[in-house]
Amino acid sequence: MDLKIAGKVALVSGASTGIGFSICAELADNGVHLVMVARNAQRLLSAAQTLENKYGVKTLAIAGDVAEPAFPRAVVSEALRHFAGIDLLVNNAGRAHTGTLLTTSEEDWHSMTEVKFSAMRRFCREVIPGMQQRRWGRIVNISSIGGIFPNPPLTVSHALSAAINNLTRSLALDVAADGILVNAIGVGAVATENWAHNMLPGVRARRPELKGSSDEEIIARLGRERTPVGHFGQPEDIADIAAFLLSARNNFVTGHTVEASGGADRFM
Ligand SMILES: NC(=O)c1ccc[n+]([C@@H]2O[C@H](COP(=O)([O-])OP(=O)(O)OC[C@H]3O[C@@H](n4cnc5c(N)ncnc54)[C@H](OP(=O)(O)O)[C@@H]3O)[C@@H](O)[C@H]2O)c1
Repeated sequence: MDLKIAGKVALVSGASTGIGFSICAELADNGVHLVMVARNAQRLLSAAQTLENKYGVKTLAIAGDVAEPAFPRAVVSEALRHFAGIDLLVNNAGRAHTGTLLTTSEEDWHSMTEVKFSAMRRFCREVIPGMQQRRWGRIVNISSIGGIFPNPPLTVSHALSAAINNLTRSLALDVAADGILVNAIGVGAVATENWAHNMLPGVRARRPELKGSSDEEIIARLGRERTPVGHFGQPEDIADIAAFLLSARNNFVTGHTVEASGGADRFM
């Protein structure tokens, strides 16, 4: 399907690896130029270079922490020095944080809120006025299936995901008449560095019988045990959904959170 977005410009946070990188690759394959954001400059530049070389699109890599309050504005001003406008926004930067309400520290609660929620708000505020002027825009907010089906060991991540889903709908209604569509994706278990790094240690601690199994073996086993489709998702699975929602082929879906969890109603 031709997504009809060749030549448009996308800003993607958390673009150097995992789901964000896969979304960038899918957009680049559809001729979209990219403003790519992540903290580790070297990895980000290499990701941007890979996509430029493979797809022939323009990329602008801007390294920094989305939790810094001034960073989203700086990113958008820098992007507007290189491109005429930002047509697509993907708020993806973040990670899972394990902990219940009682065990999550004040500092972790604050930093998760800044990375996942405040940065999303700030990026939206920076790009929407330009979209309103051009009367066209698409925004995708990456949320978690836990925003719909919360699981206590991931309390802060899931509470913020519920907030993202709510913000997505509210914003979507606010800007619908301006030609801007805003959606979220409620991501389930997807095999990325984030999952392996933040979730596997807890699984290994809770399940001594998995001692001696490799990360891949554990992920395959959990996929069989806990996901109705029988396996974890891949970043490309999320990228395919995002690409449609961000495209000009989507003219009627807005304010929605797509559940992309292989049927699982509980984040592991
Ligand atoms: N994988 C899953 O199972 C799953 C499930 C539900 C929701 N999600 C959500 O999906 C999103 C992507 O997750 P993923 O699994 O693809 O993670 P990942 O593989 O760890 O990639 C995260 C990306 O975000 C960047 N990033 C992280 N913190 C950042 C910050 N403060 N400022 C700027 N960039 C930052 C990382 O680069 P640097 O480290 O260099 O900054 C990297 O490019 C996250 O919001 C996550 O919460 C994932």
